[in-house]
Parts: sequence; C-alpha cells; structure tokens
Amino acid sequence: MSGQRVCVSDFEVEARKVLPKAVYDYYRSGAEEQHTLAENQAAFNRWHLIPRVLRDVSTVDLSVSVLGQRVSMPVCVAATAMQRMAHPEGETATARACRAVGTGMMLSSWATSTIEEVMSAMTSSAGDGGVLWLQLYIYKDRELTLSLVRRAEQAGYGGVFVTVDTPYLGRRWDDMRNRFKLPSHLSMSNFTSASLAFSEGDYGNDSGLAVYVAKAIDPTLSWDDIGWLKEHTRLPVIVKGIMNGTHTHGILVSNHGARQLDGVPATLEVLEEVVQAVQGRCDVFMDGGVRRGTDVLKALALGAKAVFIGRPVLWGLACQGEKGVTEVLELLKEELRLAMALSGCRSVSEVNRSLVRRAEFTSRI
Ligand SMILES: Cc1cc2nc3c(=O)[nH]c(=O)nc-3n(C[C@H](O)[C@H](O)[C@H](O)COP(=O)(O)O)c2cc1C
Repeated sequence: MSGQRVCVSDFEVEARKVLPKAVYDYYRSGAEEQHTLAENQAAFNRWHLIPRVLRDVSTVDLSVSVLGQRVSMPVCVAATAMQRMAHPEGETATARACRAVGTGMMLSSWATSTIEEVMSAMTSSAGDGGVLWLQLYIYKDRELTLSLVRRAEQAGYGGVFVTVDTPYLGRRWDDMRNRFKLPSHLSMSNFTSASLAFSEGDYGNDSGLAVYVAKAIDPTLSWDDIGWLKEHTRLPVIVKGIMNGTHTHGILVSNHGARQLDGVPATLEVLEEVVQAVQGRCDVFMDGGVRRGTDVLKALALGAKAVFIGRPVLWGLACQGEKGVTEVLELLKEELRLAMALSGCRSVSEVNRSLVRRAEFTSRI
C-alpha cells in the first residue's frame, strides 16, 4: 500500500485531484442540501464500541456468507454507475479487485461495461474468491428488464439487487448545474440503443441522468413487481433501498448514498429497527457512509449481515484502477480485522448487540 494513503478519505482527496469536476461532483454528491449525505457518516459517531478484552484474538476470521456464497469479509461493493468515468477499465478493474480480495461486487444496470465482460474479468483474473450480483433498475420496457436478468443468470451471477428507491432521480444540484451526462466515448454498455445507453447528444438544460430516468425507468413500481421479478428468475432477489422492514424479502437498507430523498435518516439509524421488524425471516444488509472498519463493526453489531460501500471504490478506481480498488478493500479489511481484535471478536458470529451503545447513553456512565 502506498505510504500516504492510510484511510479511505485519503483516496478521496487524491481522486478529487485527478477527476474532471463534473465526474467528481456526480460521484460525491447527494440530493439537494445533502443533509442525509452528512448524516450517513455522522451517524456512526453516535454509537460507541464497548470492547471485550483478554480473549485471545491472535486469529480473527472475517468471512461471512452473502446470498449463500462465502466472501472473505462482510464488506462488499455496492452498485455505482458509469465506472469508466473514473478509470478506463472501469467495472472490469473493480471486478478483478474484488476477486483478488475475495469479496462480492454488485454491478450497476448502468455500468459502462457489459454484464458478460465483467463476469469474464472476474473469473479470468488471479485470486480464488469473488462473487458478482446484478443491480437491477426496472425499466418501463419489462422485456428489456428481464433480458438483463437472463443475461446475468447465463453469465453466472449469484443474485439480483432490485433498486426500489428511484422511481425518479433525486435532485442533485451539482449534476443539474453541470448538466451531467456521460463523456461521448462512453455509454451504458448493456443497452444498444442510444436512448437507453445514455448516449444521446442533448439532454437539455438539466441533469442528463434525471432526464434519462424520467424517460426510461418505471415509476409505477409497486410490491407486485417484486413478486413479478421473483417469478421470472431463479436467482435470489434482494430489495435495495428500503428504510423500514415490514416484509420478508431480503433487504439492503439503503438511501442510495443519500442521492434520492434528502431528509431521510442515516441508514445506520434505521438499521436496528429493520432488523427487529423482520425477526430473522430474511437477511438484512446495509450501505451508506461506511468509511472505516469500525463503521463496519458497528453496522454488524446492529444486525447487518454485511455492508456495502459505494463511493470509496470509485475513489480507489480513480486513484489507481484495479490496484486502487484492491487497496481500498484491503484497507477496510485490515481496519475491520483490527477493530474486531481490539473488541475481542474472533469471528463475525461473535459480533453482537452488546458491542455497541448509543453515544449519549455511554457518555453518562
Ligand atoms: C456515483 C454513484 C452511483 C450510483 N449508482 C447506483 C446505481 O446505478 N444503482 C443503484 O442501485 N445504486 C447506485 N448508487 C448507490 C449505491 O449503490 C449505494 O447505495 C451508495 O453509494 C452507498 O453509500 P456510500 O457511497 O456512502 O457508500 C450509486 C451511488 C453513487 C455514489
């Protein structure tokens, strides 16, 4: 690991220097005044860790299983769109890094590499781990939507994360001001027509992506459509973008990295409520603001089976492609290993609710 990058925020500082402004803004920003964006990270500081000591922590096992497949740590890669804006190898570099570290990657429907390309990058690279899942947006064109799922099934993907928080795109002021669109040499590679590949010339005086979503993505989406999707695939389906738990589908608690509805709470704040509501009937994952090993540990203690990271991967990619993403993932793995050891947890199964206390409560004792 290069000397000066000791934490995830070091990668962001460097990425900001190398990325074009409109790309950095698109990756970094949240919706509107970005209250939720700040909250996603701040929420981790409202929980304290209460370590157990004298427990022989000379070996710590970080591995967990996610959708039935073993990964080397409970930190996986969330779907982030259009990764070739960060590095020419984009999603294929991220896949190779996940393989090297032995963790899972959720590929965005809006990737700038195809479903098949990314699977072949993962399976043909060094390393013995790595799992791929597809993140699915449900398009107005349902046949097109199912064709993405079929391609993922055929290519050997291990599950589908269906995003349910984006019937319309959130108002991301930076993207509106920058009139964000893809650079002309790139497209959303899983689609052939220019209108679906987000490569039309003119999106007017607005965020091009908001215009794209309004045209292509189905705002009528309801719970029935989750049933519809499950009927059409044998892959596990996880609902991504939920903040409460009143049902029995696998859940990824997410507010889309604070890019959709500004003013919702941090995902960490609602995690425990969701875990309690589902009462063990399905797996609960979370994403949003995870930047340190201790963040991961707190989310696990509050009941997440694993967490996903979005922006940190883009910073790694921008800094140094596959190597940069590998470094980010290894960094979080090492931080988590140390945090678990210092908390007396020798395996993820030993992480439980007694490890964390609400900060205002601990400060009184
Ligand atoms: C630049 C960017 C692009 C994203 N693209 C998608 C996407 O295509 N599909 C999706 O479901 N979520 C997308 N997300 C949300 C992430 O999957 C994830 O929920 C979020 O980034 C987690 O928060 P974090 O960035 O604070 O780790 C995107 C997030 C970012 C930052």
